[in-house]
Amino acid sequence: MRRRVLRHDDPAIYHPDPRDEEATSLHYGGFLGPRLVVSASFFPSAPPMNASLVTFQLRYMATDFDVQGRGYGARVLAFAEEDLCALGVEQLWANGRDTALGFYESVGWLCVEGSQHLSPETLLPHTVIFKRLIGQ
Ligand SMILES: CC(C)(COP(=O)(O)OP(=O)(O)OC[C@H]1O[C@@H](n2cnc3c(N)ncnc32)[C@H](O)[C@@H]1OP(=O)(O)O)[C@@H](O)C(=O)NCCC(=O)NCCS
Repeated sequence: MRRRVLRHDDPAIYHPDPRDEEATSLHYGGFLGPRLVVSASFFPSAPPMNASLVTFQLRYMATDFDVQGRGYGARVLAFAEEDLCALGVEQLWANGRDTALGFYESVGWLCVEGSQHLSPETLLPHTVIFKRLIGQ
């Protein structure tokens, strides 16, 4: 999913994250039968905003091309948010692709004003986004 949806299916790119195997990393998948169609990984993180909150970073949010727009991404993200909240996580953040900001906003994430930047990995425009899982 990371390679196909997020890295142009470049066969030369194997895309592990150095934190993938750490005990504190959490990986969520959405399945249609045996087929993985949504991926999302969460890693403990220093909070870039609301510094006192227990914070995880979302990375590699992706829905496979042929099933985008069916609500699957939102469903997996909602499941993950509920699970993380139950584990004591208070806030999530991510570098959101600008082309996907409408998705995140539709499920309650907020953009940090003035945080637009180019990803050093993909050179695509991104914006810092976050969501509090506990009261304001
Ligand atoms: C962005 C992505 C994860 C969304 O997943 P999805 O399963 O297609 O999204 P859903 O069908 O659950 O959409 C939920 C809502 O977000 C909206 N939405 C989805 N993608 C959107 C986009 N790119 N821009 C604006 N709105 C979007 C949907 O219209 C829907 O709105 P509704 O509830 O009013 O109907 C998926 O399109 C994707 O993998 N895109 C390519 C990779 C990518 O950009 N990943 C994010 C990296 S930060």
